[in-house]
Amino acid sequence: AHGGLGSAHGKAILMGEHSVVYGAPAIALPLVDLQTTASVREADHGSISSDLYTGPLEGAPARLQPVITALRATVDRVGLSFDSFEIVISSTIPLERGLGSSAAVAAAMVRAVSNAAGVALSPEETFELVQVAEHVAHGTSSGLDAHAVRSLSPLRFQAGIPTPVRVGAPMAFVIADSGTSGSTSAAVGGVRMLRKTRPALVEGIIESLAGLAESAIAALGAGDANALGATMLSGHEHLARLGVSAPALDALVAAAADGGAYGAKLTGSGLGGCVLALVDPDQADAVSDAMMAAGAAQTLRTTLPGGQKET
Ligand code: PMV
Repeated sequence: AHGGLGSAHGKAILMGEHSVVYGAPAIALPLVDLQTTASVREADHGSISSDLYTGPLEGAPARLQPVITALRATVDRVGLSFDSFEIVISSTIPLERGLGSSAAVAAAMVRAVSNAAGVALSPEETFELVQVAEHVAHGTSSGLDAHAVRSLSPLRFQAGIPTPVRVGAPMAFVIADSGTSGSTSAAVGGVRMLRKTRPALVEGIIESLAGLAESAIAALGAGDANALGATMLSGHEHLARLGVSAPALDALVAAAADGGAYGAKLTGSGLGGCVLALVDPDQADAVSDAMMAAGAAQTLRTTLPGGQKET
């Protein structure tokens, strides 16, 4: 083992956050403009360098424990020793915004370490090692992020199984960062509590969100931005009724709609994090400006490539 490199990208959830935890389908989009890379090099003592911390592995802060726990599992799997690497992580994925930074850091690290060992891990093994980090970071995890940060195509994800989704025409998105982080475990826990006290309400919302995910897949396949935007607005309303929105997120969704977006919704676990807006490319600047005026800390653009429309 001498050295190795690995990378992964960000993701946004188009539909199905929270309902996916209860068996409904979710759709994740790749954000290939947001990248995380990891490089590992043999060294006398283990160390890690990232935006959060640079120093010995044993002194690393709590926020790095997920990736360090996954590192232990990965070196065990590939037959290397734990305390013998310098790891350098660099990432352009905003942290704790539901854009997949934790899973991408873990995936990049798993790939870098397995490359350094010259061991080709199967996609399933890579997924399981990324999940080690996700479980430490979030308690439980549906596995959506661990698949999405490694897939270049949008994914439908249900009951642990990812399948690629067809995109009939290019789709342009503006993502607005509210500037505040939502806690995934707090949001998921809040839904679990509400489901205990108001089971009929929550089951009804989950069923509606499942239907919206299927509608979104159909709209993507048909390249129908109007239909997809409408499902997104409805998705946001349903997530708000689950208690995972926030005034700042509602304001960003309203601003996107007023600014000419086809639709918008919170993306990821909510309570903070980001809003995803579907736009006509000609309207992207106007929608971005409207969301900045409504309090966004920053906006990002992404386009999903798509094939021919179905006739
Ligand atoms: O906030 P994120 O992007 O990590 O997404 C969490 C998605 C949930 O459905 C809320 C939880 C899960 O494990 O799928």
